Amino acid sequence: MSKPKVYATHQMFEPARKLIESRCEVEYWRGPNRPPRATLFEKVAGKDALICLLTEKINDELLAAGPKLRIVANIAVGFDNIDVPACTRRKVFASNTPGVLDETTADFAWTLLMAVARRLLEGDRLMRSGKWTGWDLDQMCGADVWGKTLGVVGFGRIGRAVARRAGGFNMRVIYSDAIRAPLEAERELRAEYVPMDRLFAEADFISLHVPLLPETQGLISTARLAQMKPTAFVINTSRGPVVDEAALVAALEAKKIAGAALDVYQKEPQVHPGLVKRQDVILSPHISSASVETRTKMAVMACENVIAALDGRKPPNALNSELAGA
Ligand code: DGY
Repeated sequence: MSKPKVYATHQMFEPARKLIESRCEVEYWRGPNRPPRATLFEKVAGKDALICLLTEKINDELLAAGPKLRIVANIAVGFDNIDVPACTRRKVFASNTPGVLDETTADFAWTLLMAVARRLLEGDRLMRSGKWTGWDLDQMCGADVWGKTLGVVGFGRIGRAVARRAGGFNMRVIYSDAIRAPLEAERELRAEYVPMDRLFAEADFISLHVPLLPETQGLISTARLAQMKPTAFVINTSRGPVVDEAALVAALEAKKIAGAALDVYQKEPQVHPGLVKRQDVILSPHISSASVETRTKMAVMACENVIAALDGRKPPNALNSELAGA
């Protein structure tokens, strides 16, 4: 019997490759950049499954080009690139990779937080420039992190992992979310639920951990930035469009806030030119989950989802699990 056919829009780490190739005939996109849209349309024709990244837009049109598809498996926890209702209408499972990247992403949110507070990259640039003249009392003084107030916006798995790390810095933790966390979680993390207005007014560091939804798009707006302390920082490892980059640049220029550290952008891979030239901003290329261990786990998880769907089982991370009974 011939093996089911899978198209993967990226080559994967060995454990994932071995797993999927043991069960399926896999064709990979091997280009240096992301596959052109026309290639995707051509490649999904005749395939039983698609393994994709968050850079691929999975809409009804693409699904129509792959009438045999039984699953679209995203190698990412965020799935704003997938039209899940369109998948459901076409009886195609959609899946993501929740859980395995929480701690790695939280580590990176903290990497950005510490680096922007303590001006690490400015210091690195100075050292490499050969212009450092030696120790000086008021040189590159940043902001303390310990003992400050951390504001976590979005208190899901990643937001909570970020909050947990704040204990080591003796910080006060406040959070906002559409849904308040159970009391045990608040107690364990020593986190206080506050309305968004208070969070913006009181936090020294605001770390964003919301999914991209119509309600969260442009959340960091002129109005929200105006509520922040002039000494406060914004850290974004969630999704770029959660921050209105033009508003952020204006707030930084007017010194309404102290700085920002961003891993994600409104129109990736573009970055607002106003951000690029600023010393009080740190920019990283959407790498919060990018450890070898975690990216391997994410790819393996996507393959497990594919194998389950092709075996006629519910994928463990199905986003439209209602299809399982259909
Ligand atoms: C995700 O998984 O959604 C991240 O943005 C990439 O790890």
